[in-house]
Amino acid sequence: MSSKGLTPVHWFSHGSTMMLGEESEAATYWKKAGDEALANGIKGVVMMGAHWAELNEKIAVATNPTPSKSPVAYVHPSKYADYKLNPDLETANKCIEMLKAEGFDAEGDPKFDWIHDTYLVLIRMFPDGCPPTTIVSMNARYDPYYHVKVGAALRPLREQGYLLIGSGGAVHNLYRNKWEPMLRYRDNFAQETPPEAWALEFRQSVEDIVTQTSGPRLRRGITRLMKHPQYREAHATDDHFMSGLFVAGAVGDKEDEGTYGRLCAETWELTNMCNSQFTWGSFVQAAA
Ligand SMILES: [Fe+2]
Repeated sequence: MSSKGLTPVHWFSHGSTMMLGEESEAATYWKKAGDEALANGIKGVVMMGAHWAELNEKIAVATNPTPSKSPVAYVHPSKYADYKLNPDLETANKCIEMLKAEGFDAEGDPKFDWIHDTYLVLIRMFPDGCPPTTIVSMNARYDPYYHVKVGAALRPLREQGYLLIGSGGAVHNLYRNKWEPMLRYRDNFAQETPPEAWALEFRQSVEDIVTQTSGPRLRRGITRLMKHPQYREAHATDDHFMSGLFVAGAVGDKEDEGTYGRLCAETWELTNMCNSQFTWGSFVQAAA
């Protein structure tokens, strides 16, 4: 195994907006992962979220030097309004060049405002200040191979001290969530009934692939999950699954064989939404 010198990779399930305002096991883990990243002197964060996709063949990288934040429902503005975003334009341009070199129709978007899929996680990871961060869009065709290739194209950034993060969801179907406790009582963790069978089944399959396959098998496994019999129940739309493909690209090279994902925290919300938090590799491994 030669993961030497490579930073870890995270696939985080950001869940509902209330994951910003309410304490949870997942939130505690996000903070821990952020503390470790800072203690190990990461150069910056490169993230793919779940709320920004480009049309046709395009992929974009955020190059707005002063992005604002789209508002977050059900969270008091004091939890996010004053948090200072830290767009890393130099790395954004580097990402554009790396993507172009791999044949992508990539360009900067100097007008893009950041959305909670990325800054919710950043606030939780880095409450005392956002490290230089680059946001990469998805492509709205939601082709799994395309998104694996994006992760693979940016994988070399792991050798340069960047932390690559996908922010999406393991089980994330807004149409199948039980919203009533959140809408009526602001309680996103009520879980009045157990999660439904399809949610449990798909969540288990995600964990199995993440923790039991590595290298190119991980890429094939996460790609194949889109053909899982319960996939469409777990993901009514493909947007929250794409960051998993991005992550598989970033940590699914031949060189990553033997680096298995770990389920580090998990928080169920709204009965059927499973916010699994996965990490591959470690800074200890990177320093070895
Ligand atoms: Fe989301």
